[in-house]
Amino acid sequence: MTKPRPPVEYAEYLKLDRLLSCQSPKSAEYGPPAHDELLFVIVHQAYELWFKQILHELDSVLALFRADSVDERSIGVALARLARVTEIQKLLVDQLRVLETMTPLDFLDFRDLLLPASGFQSLQFRLIENKLGLRPEQRAPIEKSMGGAALTAEAREALRASEREPSLFAVVERWLERTPFLETPGFQFWASYARAVDAMLARDREAIASNSTLGDADKRLQLAELDRTAASFSAVLDEGAHARLVAAGQRRLSWRATQAALFIHLYRDQPILHLPFRFLTTLVDVDELLATWRYRHALMVHRMIGTKIGTGGSSGHHYLLGTVERNKVFKDLYDLSTFLISRSSLPALPPEMERRLGFHYPRD
Ligand code: HEM
Repeated sequence: MTKPRPPVEYAEYLKLDRLLSCQSPKSAEYGPPAHDELLFVIVHQAYELWFKQILHELDSVLALFRADSVDERSIGVALARLARVTEIQKLLVDQLRVLETMTPLDFLDFRDLLLPASGFQSLQFRLIENKLGLRPEQRAPIEKSMGGAALTAEAREALRASEREPSLFAVVERWLERTPFLETPGFQFWASYARAVDAMLARDREAIASNSTLGDADKRLQLAELDRTAASFSAVLDEGAHARLVAAGQRRLSWRATQAALFIHLYRDQPILHLPFRFLTTLVDVDELLATWRYRHALMVHRMIGTKIGTGGSSGHHYLLGTVERNKVFKDLYDLSTFLISRSSLPALPPEMERRLGFHYPRD
């Protein structure tokens, strides 16, 4: 017998009495209420609610990828959840427009009452960054000490734990490193890719050298460009060169994981690789939308407070602009495009390999 269930009420289920009594503008405590402060509070609260949902999705994706083996179904689920994160992020970028209906002068009616509070101290925002895989050493010094004193001991511990736990970057890297198919008895992906790159560069060199419409100076220029392209390919083809870039902080993804990611991108038309390809692309979407939000927020801050310092003590607009590039997490996945070669230059897969990468259904 099922347990009797009392009727559920809208307001009770959503705890609306509590939710709607959580807006306490400061201006009313010290003088005439500033009309726009309610908007300021509600917009920030709406952000924090969406941050909570993003963390919920990220935690579930992390749990799926922490397993020793990740099956196709899990990739589909992870992809759907990350796609949801990207839709929320688009909303977060757009939501700044609502706040921008407040003018800088209206903001000044209550800004000083907020000191030293700042979005800098948003625990959930930092957790999102850490769970994605932002490394402490990537952060600017002021960011590392960010509102440390303003956070509770519990919040500081949650932050430290999120730095210790494997991030999305780390679990995806491990998953990529386990990718099968890179070396099978009839197919060595890396060796055949290296040969295809050599052949492509030789063709390009020949095309420049034999181009009768180019003068000697132009040829020299174009050949020097081609040398630079060849050098960037060597940096991924050669394990030692890759390791040196990792040591210099210019690459992060391991060599093996880079090979697997490239394999997935190049052969993504093969049915089995399609979902992993979309998953990797969605990771870049998440990273790019976060960078978009950072840039958009920095522009709004410039408009709102000019070049004043922030309430959290940073240089404000200037500091925020710096985080757009510095705080990207999946840079290596963006950079993969450097190493793509056209479908026509791609080594053909042996038939046995094609069969393994396809889906096969028995006939009735
Ligand atoms: C009038 C509107 C706003 C102004 C003038 C403003 C200003 C600033 C400034 C100057 C900073 C740099 C840290 C500091 O020195 O305080 C900052 C950081 C931050 N703000 Fe805002 N902000 C506004 C609205 C928002 C909103 C609506 C959110 C949504 C949650 C938000 C979230 C953040 C976050 C997460 C950071 C830390 C970014 C990082 O360190 O990468 N801000 N804000």
